[in-house]
Amino acid sequence: MVRGHYDSEPLMRLEGEIHFDAALSRAEVEAAALVYGRPMPPVAYLPCCGTLRHVPALLERGVEQLVAVDLSLASLRAGLMRNAPDVPASRLSVYHADVRHPDAFLPGGGVPFVFLGGNSLGDVTSVEGHAEFIRSLAAALTPGGVLVFDYVGDRYAPGTQDAVTEWPETYLSDTGDIAVIDTRTRRSSPVPGTAMSILRFTSKIRHARTGELIVEAHGYDKLVVPDALLAEQFADAGLELTNAGRMADLSPYHRERIRRTGDLGMLGEPDCLYRAVKEMTDHCGEGSR
Ligand SMILES: C[S@@+](CC[C@H](N)C(=O)[O-])C[C@H]1O[C@@H](n2cnc3c(N)ncnc32)[C@H](O)[C@@H]1O
Repeated sequence: MVRGHYDSEPLMRLEGEIHFDAALSRAEVEAAALVYGRPMPPVAYLPCCGTLRHVPALLERGVEQLVAVDLSLASLRAGLMRNAPDVPASRLSVYHADVRHPDAFLPGGGVPFVFLGGNSLGDVTSVEGHAEFIRSLAAALTPGGVLVFDYVGDRYAPGTQDAVTEWPETYLSDTGDIAVIDTRTRRSSPVPGTAMSILRFTSKIRHARTGELIVEAHGYDKLVVPDALLAEQFADAGLELTNAGRMADLSPYHRERIRRTGDLGMLGEPDCLYRAVKEMTDHCGEGSR
């Protein structure tokens, strides 16, 4: 991933970004709970938690204690102030850490439920880093434990040509709201020798009337893994992977929002929820505990 993207506080000021979208986050947790298919356990883990936007809904659904981890300090700080301001420390432990080192923050033996939201699976973009990420998710689970995550995979593919999308946005500046134009470019390039590819986004925010640059052009990458290969990668880590279906089919909120405003991009129509169950036996892949 390009860490600067998530550390970029200006982007959290875009009204349409999802960081503080409580209704969307609640609907995602509802769909994830459906896919989990069991009552919420006492302890759960939120890797790549970003701005902690799923925390309130998970706690309301009955999780007693959440462990939330992210590398972006700016996201965690903003989240603690805006998404989880009143959550007691006994119910939420927040770590500024790399999710690939779960021993540093998770109880020994793991947790029964992990939720990886916001299409984060592709955020570790190197091939070995991605494998390590999956192994660390397996290591975070108790035997029989379940990871639920959403992932758009190769269902959001712009092709090799640049795809450019522009839309009006509102930028919440310290001195008032500014009407801006958000321009995003997407380009896909293969990862040599694999069936995977990298999707590179760049974004530029300009004043809608004057054209003045409000947020410098910046980029971030996502690793795109087709479903069949993803299932193999998870199996290598001791996780049985199932694509549980499209988020929009599992969440009435998403269905209605896609129909009404269609503003969800990767988290819209092509996004799917997955269920990965850790084997009960003791061969959980290299690197697991
Ligand atoms: C697409 S964002 C999603 C954030 C959040 N789950 C949500 O739904 O809003 C991905 C997040 O993963 C974090 N991240 C990426 N690689 C990471 C790593 N190796 N360890 C911890 N966090 C990581 C980024 O900082 C970012 O906040």
